[in-house]
Amino acid sequence: MKHLLSTADLSREEAIAILDIAEEMRETGTRQVKKLPALRGRTVVNLFFEDSTRTRISFEAAAKRLSADVINFSAKGSSVSKGESLKDTAQTLLAIGADAVVIRHPDSGAPARLAATDWIGLPIVNAGDGTHEHPTQALLDAFTLRRQLALREGVSPLGRGLDGLKIAIVGDILHSRVARSNLWLLNTLGASVTMVAPPTLLPVGASAWPCKISYSLDAVIESGVDAVMMLRVQGERMRAAFFPNPREYSRYWGLDDTRLKALEAKGQDTLILHPGPMNRGLEISSAAADSPASMVLEQVTNGVAVRMASLYMLLSGDLI
Ligand code: CP
Repeated sequence: MKHLLSTADLSREEAIAILDIAEEMRETGTRQVKKLPALRGRTVVNLFFEDSTRTRISFEAAAKRLSADVINFSAKGSSVSKGESLKDTAQTLLAIGADAVVIRHPDSGAPARLAATDWIGLPIVNAGDGTHEHPTQALLDAFTLRRQLALREGVSPLGRGLDGLKIAIVGDILHSRVARSNLWLLNTLGASVTMVAPPTLLPVGASAWPCKISYSLDAVIESGVDAVMMLRVQGERMRAAFFPNPREYSRYWGLDDTRLKALEAKGQDTLILHPGPMNRGLEISSAAADSPASMVLEQVTNGVAVRMASLYMLLSGDLI
């Protein structure tokens, strides 16, 4: 594995290997195992051209728990505002001794561009590019699902996929890099996916994707699912006020208190995921976000382990 740009690049064996290593790394950072020495002497650069809370602190924690040095670069307040190019910014990082680059960028394809050129020749991790992909988010979501279901069944998660699971991905699919990365990975791991969205928030061409499409969250809940992944409505990526309006959106596509009760009434212990940040009261109610079925904080915890596994595999290079 030279780069981690898209979950579409991962075979089932590679994806399961990352999840298995993450499982082994999950206890790092606790009182018992504070740090691993695996990346001592290496430097990871977090190159963030777009705002982030979870992904950025998670990559920083992951690198530090592997004993790597971390440099955090934010485009805000940098010479990017003076017009410095991606190439010059990246080569500046190389000159100060980076060993891997984690990049978030508003433009779809920016991480792939960095990986395809000879500008720096370092492993690149896509930490979210435009509306394209967010592979470590999908990996942490898969990790969370696999771990919860194994705990429920009293079995080890190691070596397992997500075969036979029914997952609904709900909301602003059009602008969601999380939805795309999850779709490819969930298929690779054997789950079946239903995308649930208003027609105006589905991309042209979604009908050719390997999933079912539904416009009715109520019908999907009624049919029974193992997990619902609620997506953030990404107002900042919309040219005009989004349609349907917020009240209609929440009424028809939000996981509100009524739908939470409907999920609970099915008695299937459906898991609720959200990548964050959440618009409480729009795509998810506070009751749903804070319910016992909510995996929101578990996803954040698991994100560190998945990012440790990803950095370890990219920088040690001996596991796949
Ligand atoms: N899930 C996610 O990417 O969150 P941040 O934008 O806070 O990193």
